[in-house]
Amino acid sequence: MHEARPSRTAMHVAMRRAAHQIFDARPLVLDDPIAVPIIGPEAEARVREKGGTARIGRVSRAFMVARSRYAEDKLAEAVARGVDQYVVLGAGLDTFAYRDPFPQDTLRVFEVDHPATQAWKRWKLKNAGIALPANVTYAPVDFEERTLSDGLTAAGFDATRPAFFSWLGVVMYLTDAAIEGTFRYIASLPTGSGMAFDAIVPNSALNWFERIIRHMISRRVRRVEEPFISFFRPEELRAKLSNAGFHDIEILDPDALYERYFRNRSDGLRPMGHSLLVTSAQV
Ligand SMILES: C[S@@+](CC[C@H](N)C(=O)[O-])C[C@H]1O[C@@H](n2cnc3c(N)ncnc32)[C@H](O)[C@@H]1O
Repeated sequence: MHEARPSRTAMHVAMRRAAHQIFDARPLVLDDPIAVPIIGPEAEARVREKGGTARIGRVSRAFMVARSRYAEDKLAEAVARGVDQYVVLGAGLDTFAYRDPFPQDTLRVFEVDHPATQAWKRWKLKNAGIALPANVTYAPVDFEERTLSDGLTAAGFDATRPAFFSWLGVVMYLTDAAIEGTFRYIASLPTGSGMAFDAIVPNSALNWFERIIRHMISRRVRRVEEPFISFFRPEELRAKLSNAGFHDIEILDPDALYERYFRNRSDGLRPMGHSLLVTSAQV
């Protein structure tokens, strides 16, 4: 991403989550009362003006709300196992920390992001009047420049205790070295740790319709100087995770996400598009 500027794709994703709250049928896949306030009134007006019916918007937001819901479902499983640290990697305008459903003192939340995006998020929270909860710590880290270990240690993360990580909509923007370094670090944490993240498959794994959508989205992200640079086939991802030391690896494609979160919805919302994969794995 651009060195000195907050991530533009972070705003795009946040606007998709807001659109889900505004346009989609209840029950929502991701019920997020902070999703609309955090983007601010101008962006909300743009979302409302665009409307919720365009096909590409519907399939994109379906995937984006499903991956957040999936990560939070996996987090809940980790909390039930006794995990009390949650690290949101490449947090963007993720709102979990501001609507944390667990009893007070259950979780410490660390938001890790590129310094420029993180500063912008804090400004947006302030503008929206959203209080910073006492259990949230901000750790500025550029994954290409600084190790996660350094950034988290400086923020007071306890690497002797298990933690759960989410890494949503980030891996596709990073080099292999940055991705592997993070996998290795998480895999080095105590048993009980885990993570949920998503990745995109290469063009060669797409059908013609998915290629059209991929082409449109790729053009958009290139225009904001956040090009997709990393792609994985499910079997490559599984091997990489397994080599790093993860087990209980679960990889869901959009059809599996549909079965889990969308079947029987009255609005026909369905993730598809450019074949993204959501994955969880445990240490
Ligand atoms: C598409 S946004 C996703 C944001 C958030 N996870 C969500 O789902 O709303 C991509 C995020 O990756 C972060 N990012 C991209 N490259 C990064 C890097 N080199 N170091 C740290 N963060 C990075 C951006 O700052 C941004 O927050």
